[in-house]
Amino acid sequence: MTGGARGIGYAVAAGCAAAGAAVAIIDKEPSECSRVQKEFEAGGYKCLGAAADISDVNMIEGVIADIAAKLGRIDVLINNAGAGGKEAPIFDITPGEWDHTHNVNLKGLYFCSRAAAMQMKALGAGGRIINMASAAGILAPKYVSVYGAAKAAVIHLTKIMANEWARYGINVNAMAPGFIVTDMTKNVMDDEKNAAAVLRKIGLRRFGEVEDVTGVALFLATEASKYITGAVIPVDGGMTIG
Ligand code: NAI
Repeated sequence: MTGGARGIGYAVAAGCAAAGAAVAIIDKEPSECSRVQKEFEAGGYKCLGAAADISDVNMIEGVIADIAAKLGRIDVLINNAGAGGKEAPIFDITPGEWDHTHNVNLKGLYFCSRAAAMQMKALGAGGRIINMASAAGILAPKYVSVYGAAKAAVIHLTKIMANEWARYGINVNAMAPGFIVTDMTKNVMDDEKNAAAVLRKIGLRRFGEVEDVTGVALFLATEASKYITGAVIPVDGGMTIG
């Protein structure tokens, strides 16, 4: 699980641990990684905290290989680490801001997937890769060009990875959350006017909770979804229906 120290990643990791999985948390915050590891272990779960910034792609293969060695194997990779990036008109975006957002949301995800798929292929037992896309990669609202383009690419990559790795028994799927209450969306939620405007676009008329994502992640990680690959599941209360 990348980005498992807080928010959606933490909730999904906790759900996987409660379902009996040994969980490795890759997160850029070292202290948060060890906090989560200790917390899970205290609850009787097996957990490995691996501090790493996934945008530093030269480190990724080593980190994933180390996790596979310590836990014995990798059955499921959940590519959850992401960063919202700057919301602004395209004229105001700098190349550095583009790179930062794409290095985390897209390049990091690409190389984490590749490293995990190599491990799965070598073991010959198949596996699951679950990518965290976004409603922002489906809809095309103003001012989220950088993040939206990265998440749209995640959706496309999910299908290509599914195509390339089906022969190894690796299912690759994506979730596309809408507005889930986490630190990432706090700014929108805290602004009453903004929050009300977003809410009007959500069919079910409520923001998502991290638990809304956990159930779908567990479904995609288990045998229940074994005949699904290359799919993108919106988890958005109907936001992208239109
Ligand atoms: P969050 O900001 O609450 O948590 C993100 C986690 O990823 C943190 O633990 C952070 O330390 C870690 N992280 C960030 N950059 C990293 C890096 N370079 N290397 C390693 N770890 C890194 O975010 P949230 O809301 O839990 O989002 C999780 C995923 O879901 C992201 O990919 C996000 O784009 C996606 N998403 C979230 C939505 C929402 O409404 N919260 C909506 C659509 C998609």
